[in-house]
Amino acid sequence: MEEITVNLGPRSYPILVGAGALRSVGARLAALGSGRRTALVSDRSVLAFHGRTVTASLSASGLSVTEICVPEGETAKTLAVAERCWDQCLTAGLDRTSTLLALGGGAVGDLAGFVAATYMRGLPFVQLPTTLLAQVDASIGGKVAIDHPRAKNLIGAFHQPRLVVVDPAVLLTLPDPEFRSGLAEVAKHGIVLDAGYFADVEAHVPEILSRDLPTLERIIAGSCRLKGRIVEADEREGGLRAALNYGHTVGHALEAATQFSKWLHGEAVSLGIVAAARIAERMGLADAETGERQVRLLRHLGLPVGFSAPAPEAIVQAIGSDKKARDGKVPFVLAPRIGEFRLVFDIPPDLIAAVLAEIQRRSG
Ligand SMILES: NC(=O)c1ccc[n+]([C@@H]2O[C@H](COP(=O)([O-])OP(=O)(O)OC[C@H]3O[C@@H](n4cnc5c(N)ncnc54)[C@H](O)[C@@H]3O)[C@@H](O)[C@H]2O)c1
Ligand SMILES: [Zn+2]
Repeated sequence: MEEITVNLGPRSYPILVGAGALRSVGARLAALGSGRRTALVSDRSVLAFHGRTVTASLSASGLSVTEICVPEGETAKTLAVAERCWDQCLTAGLDRTSTLLALGGGAVGDLAGFVAATYMRGLPFVQLPTTLLAQVDASIGGKVAIDHPRAKNLIGAFHQPRLVVVDPAVLLTLPDPEFRSGLAEVAKHGIVLDAGYFADVEAHVPEILSRDLPTLERIIAGSCRLKGRIVEADEREGGLRAALNYGHTVGHALEAATQFSKWLHGEAVSLGIVAAARIAERMGLADAETGERQVRLLRHLGLPVGFSAPAPEAIVQAIGSDKKARDGKVPFVLAPRIGEFRLVFDIPPDLIAAVLAEIQRRSG
């Protein structure tokens, strides 16, 4: 079992990564010395697969647990669902010493974290991520949110967990598209943060795709370490954390322009990475091989690297309405080399459109 610490002074916390780690949740939580009452927020599928492991572990450590079952996926991230959670926390008698645990993908984690941040002005919170995306990305860093009808993740807070327990074995029940979607974030971490990590992923694609547990443990722990380091340096997303948006500017635009129905998040990010790689090439910031290596890895991981719609103009327009736009300008993360990133402002919309058109021509 690997233990990675996210150092944030009084808000520091460990990330445990290991097959079977979920069974140690109760003991680890009891050791933190918080109250005896806990609530476990999850959805029906995840509870059916992995709920028992967690509740048994909590009970064995003398903790009481109330299950709070929320809808699956993005539909959980609403004020109405949060309100039902607050009600159930009250009914279960949770007080400020109680712990809220999130068992599920990023959606459950974001919702449960939002409930934990707001109920009684904040409860201790534990992340038990069960999708690859949540394990390498969403569960680390304390960004929690629900959606506003007009924009995703608009209503939220920074609320760091006390503990993150990452058990790669739970990924064995994850549907293949969801698994591959998470791999886009894994690739992203390598591309902008660590060439050695990128090379490790590149060299072990078959083991990753067959979900070989020792390989997953190493790759996931590596990603958690990289994300943790960024969060330590920039807890509230003032600068450095922007590196993690690599591939997300075009990715988000693709999702928004297709009403979030055409691609899974990681698939859109994969296409966004291809676009960012080609933009860097066209601007003379990166050589052709740097872009090729990224595209090749994404393809080998089973992620999309080409698409035919929507039209480049519609995508460029969607980029302009990005939440991260400042005075109409969207900062773009580019990779001059594998393992390095640079924030670039003022990329001409025409250049972006030309690159998108080129990607569409190549895939057409
Ligand atoms: N807070 C952050 O920093 C952050 C970062 C990235 C993404 N997010 C958020 O994460 C969400 C997406 O998360 P996601 O990709 O994990 O998807 P998800 O949470 O929507 O879950 C997808 C589906 O997978 C199922 N599932 C989860 N684990 C399973 C398992 N082990 N076996 C079988 N089925 C399982 C769930 O029931 C659900 O139906 C978005 O809402 C996004 O905004 C947050
Ligand atoms: Zn992402």
